[in-house]
Amino acid sequence: MTKSGSDTFESLLSSRARVGWGVAVATPRPSMSALYEFGGGYPDPASFPYEGMIEATADMMKAEGAAAMTYGEPQGYRGLRELICHKYELFEKMKADPENIIVANGSGQALALAFGAFIDPGDVVIAEAPTFSGSLNTIRRHGPQILDVPVDDEGIVTAAVRERLEGLRRQGRRCKLIYTIVNFQNPAGPSQSLARRQELIALANEYETLILEDDAYGELRFEGETLPPLYSLDTTGRVVRAGTLSKILGAGVRLGWLCAPPEMIPAFQGFLFGGGVNPFMSRVATFFLRTEMPAHVARLIAVYRAKRDAMLRALDEVLGATDAVISRPQGGFFLWIKLPSGTSQKRLAELAIEARVQYTPGAAFYANGGGEEFIRLAFSYEPPEKCYEGARLLAKAILAARA
Ligand SMILES: Cc1ncc(COP(=O)(O)O)c(C=O)c1O
Repeated sequence: MTKSGSDTFESLLSSRARVGWGVAVATPRPSMSALYEFGGGYPDPASFPYEGMIEATADMMKAEGAAAMTYGEPQGYRGLRELICHKYELFEKMKADPENIIVANGSGQALALAFGAFIDPGDVVIAEAPTFSGSLNTIRRHGPQILDVPVDDEGIVTAAVRERLEGLRRQGRRCKLIYTIVNFQNPAGPSQSLARRQELIALANEYETLILEDDAYGELRFEGETLPPLYSLDTTGRVVRAGTLSKILGAGVRLGWLCAPPEMIPAFQGFLFGGGVNPFMSRVATFFLRTEMPAHVARLIAVYRAKRDAMLRALDEVLGATDAVISRPQGGFFLWIKLPSGTSQKRLAELAIEARVQYTPGAAFYANGGGEEFIRLAFSYEPPEKCYEGARLLAKAILAARA
């Protein structure tokens, strides 16, 4: 029930809360009106391990009893922190200790903790253009100047990062952190090459800044070689790495984390209430994944690869003869399409509504404008047949939306 509208408090809002005030917060859930949901990065509901989670919950309650239902450790349930380290070792040969991990409410909150710890209004953040729109919303709340750098087939263009850092140095300013999505970049799809990873670390050292390495999809690699995380390449404690269980277990478990030098952890912990984030669910997830993680992730890889292939096949069939550029990510959830020349985004939006296909226009992923010639399609949510059908319909709409 609304008592009095917003008059009583609006003038009292903090400057942080004023950023984006009045803009409705979109619920991250599939559209009710779309027949083909390619908009958000929703995990595949048919792959959720329902039975396994029921068993894990019962086993956990029997084993842990009351401990599961009271306040937990401020840094998060130790069992989950151990499991995260095991996951890093298993998939990326990355070494970390539970002391390096702080559990958060999804990696969305983990990233917010990192921005909160380091960003004041007016500070400089370097971010990829395009980058994950959710992170842009969070970064903006802290009021920094966001400097764009482009992304190509090898990920973040480090030569452009150097130019930005050098430009700041000439002005007597310093970048607080470089935000980068290393694997199957959301939305553009590339994974950062080893050379770029090494260059980025060297730049962070040379210009004395931090790197916030966001990896939400790394385990979901359909092909190609796993590369060392920035966190492993770093020898001076300049990398903070964010991770999540959203894409390999379920976004509803709301479990993510930061991996950082232990001395840095209190800077994040200060933003959380002392009882730790979601100790109950942390235990359930740990009990399930402890035994099931490799087999479950292997199943997911097969599921998402089939979806990607179905969507790519449809797009190639219809748009093959145009100058559209379609990404071929080696993993993750998204395709990124440069629309054929002359396509009207406005007309495409109308035709896509008629075809009941949901997608995300490219402009959402740019901090400082641009992206009008791109769209992002998520292949993660719909089954392969619908990825194919819906992508065909959308591709035909793209042809019809050309001037
Ligand atoms: C690159 C990236 N980082 C972070 C997130 C946040 O996910 P969550 O808060 O569910 O862990 C997402 C979700 O789509 C993402 O794509």
